[in-house]
Amino acid sequence: MTETEIRLFAEADRTELRQLFRRAGAGAATASLWGHEESEAEIYLRAYMDLEPESLFVAVVDGAPAGYLAGSLDPSRFPSESERIARAIKKHRLALRPRPAAFLARSVLDLGRAALRGELTASDFSDERWPAHLHINVVPEARGTGASDGLMNAWFRRLRAGGSPGCHLLTLAENTRAVRFFERMGFTKYGATPLVPGIRHEGRRVHQQAMVWSP
Ligand SMILES: CC(C)(COP(=O)(O)OP(=O)(O)OC[C@H]1O[C@@H](n2cnc3c(N)ncnc32)[C@H](O)[C@@H]1OP(=O)(O)O)[C@@H](O)C(=O)NCCC(=O)NCCS
Repeated sequence: MTETEIRLFAEADRTELRQLFRRAGAGAATASLWGHEESEAEIYLRAYMDLEPESLFVAVVDGAPAGYLAGSLDPSRFPSESERIARAIKKHRLALRPRPAAFLARSVLDLGRAALRGELTASDFSDERWPAHLHINVVPEARGTGASDGLMNAWFRRLRAGGSPGCHLLTLAENTRAVRFFERMGFTKYGATPLVPGIRHEGRRVHQQAMVWSP
């Protein structure tokens, strides 16, 4: 029988969580964005370790980290996703690296084509009813075991204790497992499903799905 413990991130977890980053996202349409793991981990994990470790929860299964939920209660304390991406592009000179450069070129083409067609494209989410946000990733072997539920329940407790009016998340409409999971945990779909420029999953374009939760 597996034993799962949900606990707050500790500095000593840093290296192991970073190593978990790729495996915990495996299979999702967002598993690799522009093909440069270091900058992706910096945006979607390290920023949370550095800026809001008290909102970072770790699922430990049979003694080893198997997933995490990285959250932020207050957008004024946290740079937006597009700000973090813009910084990473500059810092890691992504435009000069072959795979990220191909991603950036595809993004520009997608944006141009969407503009011509009058199609919506994804952007940052900002709504004072749901200011908090989260990312959750669990390794394939620990999915369907309740580890994800445990992480989410720890986050809900933190949101309630912090007096947050609500939380949003941005997933992909094509990530059906994630959407079903979030719905089961009490989130509802919100708004349109705009195109996410640059990303392809199984050769297809993907669409952003915002989901919201209020205590
Ligand atoms: C999203 C995630 C945290 C959900 O946790 P989980 O432990 O897998 O959640 P569940 O096992 O409850 O699965 C959710 C639903 O998907 C269903 N499901 C199982 N396998 C599936 C599959 N291969 N494809 C689609 N749905 C599937 C489950 O039956 C369940 O539906 P139900 O509640 O109607 O029975 C986890 O799958 C994960 O980390 N995925 C990779 C990273 C990711 O996508 N993160 C979210 C990005 S926003």
